[in-house]
Amino acid sequence: MRIIVTGGAGFIGSHIVDTYLAAGHEVLVLDSLWEHGGGRRANVPERASFVHMDVRDDGVGRIFAEFKPEVVSHHAAQHSVAISSRDPIYDAQVNVVGMLNVLESAVKNGCRKVIFASSGATFGNPETLPITDDTPQRPTSPYGITKMVTEHYLRFYQAEKGLDFTALRYGNVYGPRQDPNGEAGVISIFIGKFLQREGVRIDWDGEQTRDYVYAGDVARVNVAALDRGSGGCYVIGTGVKTSVNAIYRALVEISGFEAPVTHAPRRPGDARDAQFDASRARKELGWSASTTLIDGMRATYEYFKAL
Ligand SMILES: NC(=O)c1ccc[n+]([C@@H]2O[C@H](COP(=O)([O-])OP(=O)(O)OC[C@H]3O[C@@H](n4cnc5c(N)ncnc54)[C@H](O)[C@@H]3O)[C@@H](O)[C@H]2O)c1
Repeated sequence: MRIIVTGGAGFIGSHIVDTYLAAGHEVLVLDSLWEHGGGRRANVPERASFVHMDVRDDGVGRIFAEFKPEVVSHHAAQHSVAISSRDPIYDAQVNVVGMLNVLESAVKNGCRKVIFASSGATFGNPETLPITDDTPQRPTSPYGITKMVTEHYLRFYQAEKGLDFTALRYGNVYGPRQDPNGEAGVISIFIGKFLQREGVRIDWDGEQTRDYVYAGDVARVNVAALDRGSGGCYVIGTGVKTSVNAIYRALVEISGFEAPVTHAPRRPGDARDAQFDASRARKELGWSASTTLIDGMRATYEYFKAL
């Protein structure tokens, strides 16, 4: 199958590219290598084609016309909650208008399906946990709003223009290649500090929890979605909630280094807990997370250590 992966030079996208290539697909990566994102040219393997282009560019249609993909996996995004709050116009330009440019290019060139990287951020701070696919979406950031809006556009394009879709609402994805200098991704940030033998900062009381899902598992669900999950939106997580303190303790165990800890107040808008019930993905996509947190953290630690 011929597949375009937008954002394929980034953290999650590059794992998807690797997995598609391993399954025998032909892949083209379209990525702007945005300065505040995790995209690196070196993340794109030789066997994939690479086009350095912004998803908002008029040239996107030409790339679709030339490559003629059957599926587009849309992972390019302005992915920062903080930037979206500071600059909601930029966030919407990339995450909504850029996405529409991709969808229009897909429709005009006979592409069958789009797989979309949605987010748990579309749910905001839900009243009850775990989050399921029936939990009301009440996003609390412009980033969460644009991701939710995009799901609505996908429904429109399927109903009116015949473009099939599957939207994957990821929890906190972690793994090799995640930017350790980013603002999010506590596991890679902490690993960076542990390897430099530096201290880490724990906000709030450290007992806030997230559902951490390994990038390799996320790549596998993107394979399942190539021909399953038509018109569906799926929560993608492990069902396990883990505190920042537990992440810290696991890294002490993995590295043998007791990093000094400083404490800071709760960051504005930080949710207390997150946990995702992925039973619909299990039933309809045949997917469930198979990597335990300790195994995934060990693999991530070894990856960064070897750099
Ligand atoms: N990391 C997570 O935990 C998480 C959770 C939920 C959803 N997501 C979504 O998954 C996708 C991948 O996120 P990631 O964590 O791998 O981030 P990332 O920054 O590593 O990857 C995003 C990629 O998109 C590219 N990009 C950004 N703006 C672009 C533009 N205008 N045109 C073309 N390319 C552009 C970047 O260069 C980068 O390579 C994003 O859509 C993000 O919103 C991530």
